[in-house]
Amino acid sequence: MSVVKFYREEHQVPLEMHKVRVVQKLYLPTVEDRVKCLREAGNNTFLLQNRDVFLDMLTDSGVNAMSDNQVAASMQADDSYAGSETCNRLIKALKTVFGTEYFLPAHQGRACENILAETFVKPGDVVPMNFHFTTTKAHITRLGGRVEELVTADGLDPHKELPFKGNFDIPRLKKLIEEVGPEHVPFVRIEAGTNLIGGQPLSMENMLEVAKVCRENGIMSVLDASLLQDNLYFIKTREEAAKGMTIAEITRKIADAMDLIYFSSRKLGFSRGGGIVSNNNDLILKMKEFIPLYEGFLTYGGMEVRSMEAMAVGLLETMDEEIINQGPLFIEYLVKELDSYGVPMVKPAGGLGAHINATEFLPHIPSQQYPAGALAAALYIAGGIRGMERGSISEQRNPDGSENYAELELLRLACPRRVFTLSQIKYCADRVKWLYDNRELVGGLKWVDEPAVLRFFFGRLEAIGDWQEKLAAKFRADFGDSL
Ligand SMILES: Cc1ncc(COP(=O)(O)O)c(C=O)c1O
Repeated sequence: MSVVKFYREEHQVPLEMHKVRVVQKLYLPTVEDRVKCLREAGNNTFLLQNRDVFLDMLTDSGVNAMSDNQVAASMQADDSYAGSETCNRLIKALKTVFGTEYFLPAHQGRACENILAETFVKPGDVVPMNFHFTTTKAHITRLGGRVEELVTADGLDPHKELPFKGNFDIPRLKKLIEEVGPEHVPFVRIEAGTNLIGGQPLSMENMLEVAKVCRENGIMSVLDASLLQDNLYFIKTREEAAKGMTIAEITRKIADAMDLIYFSSRKLGFSRGGGIVSNNNDLILKMKEFIPLYEGFLTYGGMEVRSMEAMAVGLLETMDEEIINQGPLFIEYLVKELDSYGVPMVKPAGGLGAHINATEFLPHIPSQQYPAGALAAALYIAGGIRGMERGSISEQRNPDGSENYAELELLRLACPRRVFTLSQIKYCADRVKWLYDNRELVGGLKWVDEPAVLRFFFGRLEAIGDWQEKLAAKFRADFGDSL
């Protein structure tokens, strides 16, 4: 791994291995306006208008910076409906990266999940996975299936500083298959860079072991490669067995072991769109008819051709260590900075963003008042920073209507790849520190409009009491006329 060392150790910071050539102007509303905007958005950061957001750390999805070569490639897109050269170039790039022959295009990751679930999940089926992702679970449960999460117990402990907290508990996987019977397990889903537990990676060894258990039981192995790029970086830097391997070699070793791979290109490949790849044509044929039905013709699957060209180049660039290390290095910097201030962080730093442990940040707020949601709202007031609640609000209620409290109440501060400068990351750390010092002012939230499905996207909440006005007043007292 190439590292640029600074002359003086105390000067060492992550160094951008790119330069900025297109910029977007940002605005930071006053703290009083931030309180108003938040109220109008129902205390849901998904409902804030981007013009009212200074640092958009909601997600890493579809907001990563593209390279000059990606933008250039998107200009030569072939718009033909059938036999498109763009599609051929993308298939070639996917073959280079994953070694796969067959490709089904889809408009994004959840569209692949929809097709997978429609094709393979029957009522009563069980789909084991290291951890669920919101849309994955919604598609499987919608079809009468059940999700079983088999991440090791360490993965759910924000304090355990272990390199691969996204790993499957292999004995539990074997036991589950034995208990329910392989005929009721349509596939095992391996989520690289486990999103909802802090972007924590799996080791290459663990992924290969899961695939082996699947083979032994005649069960299909499915890799969700949406967050594979960060995971590849962690394998390369943390796993002894991968030290001498290139990113491309690691990728091929993992891909060769899987029956099927799907991905969201909003993350993998710095583009938009998604797809399913495999070397098993029988599996592909089972899903194929759903593409023109739900997505678009087989040459574009609902994607815009310019994005497909950018994806082809982005996928190849993902094999470059100096490109994929930029996200994890900035996240690690932010996590270390906040950790040094005493802010409770999920450790070690993972991919896609820094994750604050809201349960420990706001111990006075009970789960019923959604500490992670409250923290997301408070940080917007503190700094115009838009994070994402990854706690109970992001869960679905149980079938009997009772609340399904999340195992971890996290505030995710996503670091879109190559988007923020280090001074913006430092600003974020500074505002979180101020909020931490004033955490006793933060109160809870309650629902005013709660949709039954994917409530975190469009549900509305309100502050319990007037804590948001008090927090803004304290900001004004501490920062004077600063924005
Ligand atoms: C691991 C994982 N899988 C699937 C998805 C769904 O992808 P998309 O947002 O493109 O639908 C995401 C999105 O964040 C994800 O993180």
